[in-house]
Amino acid sequence: MKADGKQVSRWHTFANPLELERAATRIVLASAQQAIAERGAFRCVLAGGNTPRALYGSLCNAVTDWRAWTLYFGDERCVPAADPSRNSRMAGDAWLDRVAIPPRQIHAIPAELGPELGAISYAEALAGVGAFDLVLLGLGEDGHTASLFPGRDWERSTTWPDAIPVHDSPKPPPQRVSLSPARLSHSLKVLYLVVGEDKRDAVNAWQAGHPLPASRICPPGGVDVLMHL
Ligand code: 6PG
Repeated sequence: MKADGKQVSRWHTFANPLELERAATRIVLASAQQAIAERGAFRCVLAGGNTPRALYGSLCNAVTDWRAWTLYFGDERCVPAADPSRNSRMAGDAWLDRVAIPPRQIHAIPAELGPELGAISYAEALAGVGAFDLVLLGLGEDGHTASLFPGRDWERSTTWPDAIPVHDSPKPPPQRVSLSPARLSHSLKVLYLVVGEDKRDAVNAWQAGHPLPASRICPPGGVDVLMHL
C-alpha cells in the first residue's frame, strides 16, 4: 500500500491518566457502536506497550456486542506467543481473556515465526480486510509508533506490504513485526494514547512538524492524540 497525504492531527490534553483513560474508553465504544450499527461489525487495531493497559482494563466492563468485534494488532515482538512481553499477552491479560470476543476474531500477529515469516503471514491475514474502524497507537520517546522506528529502512520507501519485518528495534526486543504506515492509515479513525513526561520532547517535535514516525500515519479523517504529559 502507498502512503499519501499530510497528517491532520488534533491534540487533546488531559489533567490526569484517569481522565484520558475515560475519554479513550468513550471514543472506542462510540466507534464500535457506530460501526456495529452501520455494518454489524467493528474492526479495531490494538496498540502495544504499557499505556493502553488501563484502557483495556476499563473495556472489560463495556456493554457491547462482543460477537461483532474483530481485533488486530499494530505490532508485535518476535518472542514466543505466551511470552509476557508480547503485546497480545498484555491485551489478553488486561482485557481479551475476560470478554466474549470469539477467539477466531482476535488476530494476533504470529511474530513467533520471526520478522519475515510473521510479516508475510500477517499481510496474508490482512488481504481482503478493508479499512479499519479504529486504530489505537502509542508513542515512543523517539517518536516511534507501533514498531516504526526513526531512521530505519521503512522510511526510505513509500510503498510497503501491509505488514513489515523489523530487525533493529532500539526498543527491546530488536525483532518485531509492524503494520506499515499506509495500512495503519487505512482507517476511519486513528487514536494515539500518550502518557508520561518522557514523551513531552517527542510531542513537541511532532507538533513542530518534525517528520517523526508518528507523523507518518495519515488517515483521511486525521488523527486524534490524547495526551497526559
Ligand atoms: C511496543 C509498542 C510501542 C509502544 C510505544 C509506547 O511494542 O512497545 O508497540 O510502539 O506503543 O513504545 O510504549 P509505552 O506505552 O509503554 O510507553
